[in-house]
Amino acid sequence: MIAQFVAAQLRRPSGRMGQLFGHLLNRSNRGMNRRAVAHLDVRSGHRLLDVGFGGGVGIDAMFDVSDDIKVDGIDFSETMLSQQQQRMADGPRAASISLQLGDVAALPFEEASFDRVLSVNTIYFWPEPVLGLREICRVLKPGGRLVLGCATKQQLEKFPPAQHGFSRYDVGDVAAMLNDAGFDGLECATPGGEAFFFSIAHRPD
Ligand SMILES: C[S@@+](CC[C@H](N)C(=O)[O-])C[C@H]1O[C@@H](n2cnc3c(N)ncnc32)[C@H](O)[C@@H]1O
Repeated sequence: MIAQFVAAQLRRPSGRMGQLFGHLLNRSNRGMNRRAVAHLDVRSGHRLLDVGFGGGVGIDAMFDVSDDIKVDGIDFSETMLSQQQQRMADGPRAASISLQLGDVAALPFEEASFDRVLSVNTIYFWPEPVLGLREICRVLKPGGRLVLGCATKQQLEKFPPAQHGFSRYDVGDVAAMLNDAGFDGLECATPGGEAFFFSIAHRPD
């Protein structure tokens, strides 16, 4: 019962509990997002997208690398959107951040809009992951880079909420989906050892 509730909140935080989950997500996922961003190769002048920004730690990590960037975020949780819009509105980077409600399956951006895309701890929840990855490929500029952060199957097996509606993937599964979606230049990094991995992929030039 509790595990099911937690799973639903992780998939799409909502209401007051969802706000609390936003804070909890930040506590547990900050390190993983920092490491993911280290693989993004963020450069001055880049426009970046965080898909499923949740409590916003991925966006924070991007600005830790450079202040001279523009960042968009999409998330299909209204609770995460309003919480992060409030948090970021008063911050020094407000003019460089644009957050909106959106689903990875139909990204509200024109083709070739972004230099880099980040998505951490989100792919487990996408009903059609290849469709989402195709959308990400479409909005990346040719040569642009995606970094996907994903807990391993073994890690998710040990986590009771993940038994409720999480799709579990290993490195090979994600690589096959990235190929299907049109990416190339695939690499994988596993700084977390057993716990998680990062899949790095590029839109072909
Ligand atoms: C477990 S949280 C991870 C948040 C953040 N990326 C992190 O690493 O802390 C998953 C987030 O992805 C969002 N999400 C899940 N499926 C989505 C989809 N199809 N489109 C957009 N956002 C989605 C959820 O609303 C939630 O905020």
